[in-house]
Amino acid sequence: MSHPIEALMIGAGGRGMYAYGPYALAHPDEIRMVAVAEPDDARRARFAQLHGIPPERQFKTWQDALARPQLAQAALNCTQDQMHAHSTVALLEAGYDVLLEKPMATTLTDCVRLVRAAEAHNRILQICHVLRFTAFFSALYDIVNSGRLGRVVTVDHRENVSYWHMSHSFVRGHWRNEGLSSPMILAKCCHDLDILFWTIGRPARRLSSFGALTHYRAENAPAGAPLRCTDGCPVEQECPWYAPLLYGAVEGLPPRSEWIARALGGGDTAQSRWEALKTSPYGRCVYHCDNDVVDHQVILMDFPGDVTVTFTMHGHSDTEGRTMRWDGTRATLYGDFSDGRPHELRIHEHGGAVEVIRPEAGASGHGGGDDGLMRTFVRTLRGEPADHQTTARASLESHLMAFAAEQSRRSGQTVDMDAFRRLT
Ligand SMILES: NC(=O)c1ccc[n+]([C@@H]2O[C@H](COP(=O)([O-])OP(=O)(O)OC[C@H]3O[C@@H](n4cnc5c(N)ncnc54)[C@H](O)[C@@H]3O)[C@@H](O)[C@H]2O)c1
Repeated sequence: MSHPIEALMIGAGGRGMYAYGPYALAHPDEIRMVAVAEPDDARRARFAQLHGIPPERQFKTWQDALARPQLAQAALNCTQDQMHAHSTVALLEAGYDVLLEKPMATTLTDCVRLVRAAEAHNRILQICHVLRFTAFFSALYDIVNSGRLGRVVTVDHRENVSYWHMSHSFVRGHWRNEGLSSPMILAKCCHDLDILFWTIGRPARRLSSFGALTHYRAENAPAGAPLRCTDGCPVEQECPWYAPLLYGAVEGLPPRSEWIARALGGGDTAQSRWEALKTSPYGRCVYHCDNDVVDHQVILMDFPGDVTVTFTMHGHSDTEGRTMRWDGTRATLYGDFSDGRPHELRIHEHGGAVEVIRPEAGASGHGGGDDGLMRTFVRTLRGEPADHQTTARASLESHLMAFAAEQSRRSGQTVDMDAFRRLT
């Protein structure tokens, strides 16, 4: 029987603590967290307590952990985007195999640097493209690649970001401003671009993109709206982004979403959350933030074999999720991977049968993708075959597509992907 993989957790925040930490606790025969690096004292202590990590293996920063001889075979890098490149290159150089959160890095140069470092040091670097590991996208991949749709001719894929997720992450939160994070098409859509590249099985030939920040701007603020929702807003009754309602700061009403309330970090009572909203970025009026990333963007893509793809991302959806349509020469497939509805793939054969498939969403986050990703990472480290194994080089492709889309959106030019790849 193989021993569990030992791992160092870098960044015990939302993803480290709640997405990947629980997998180790549930599968102690597969992976064990034996060290942690996290500057926040409370998070570090909680993570250490949950995983039984002794004080001499608890560090404030990844730099402190790396100052010690290698602590484990693997490292899980769950820090924020801007920290990914520098810390991961150092981890790879120190001999760790790394599971790295997406996006790999916030600049194209750094994404390429990471892939080269993994290859030069002969280390495994797996990027957290969790959608590949969901039952839904795995079934989609199998159907398309079974040939059941015939030859795929055209694909429409939509990423429908809900109005409240948009405001939390891309207007008020971490990914609101390109200078502080990265373009939204990278931060939000590298998963979807990875799914398209992986399922079609070939890299895109050309792409062009359009998009803008249309709504969350000062000129759209209702008259008299203050800078913060907690300052007495005249439209609080009708504004869908009224922060006290979204974050559970109104007595007797639950938050719009548990995970955004947790990210606020204001405790568990309506009153403590209200207090937090008075100073937190999440308490700001959505029309008075320092956001500059788009709130809608489309990409038109041309793949080898004349497969045409349209991809739409927008932050104005009632429901969070992805919807898609794949048209082949023998059948059309409609897919719905949205919150609050059964995940569903419907195959309509031309002139024939209709089959409805409802892949079972796993219990872990991202429709079971978080657990599937961890399982594959462990198996890859053990040298065992695993579902949908991927490499850092394969993950680079989705990032390249995102950077190329941003270049196209800004320049108004179509990007030749071969030429773009040669630049890297
Ligand atoms: N795969 C997915 O679908 C998915 C979903 C959400 C977020 N993400 C990505 O996961 C990453 C983490 O997101 P999150 O929401 O968990 O963020 P977070 O801010 O909750 O967690 C990051 C943690 O890193 C810690 N940190 C800061 N400096 C550090 C240092 N020097 N050394 C060690 N730790 C340090 C922070 O204190 C924090 O606890 C981001 O890159 C994000 O884009 C991926």
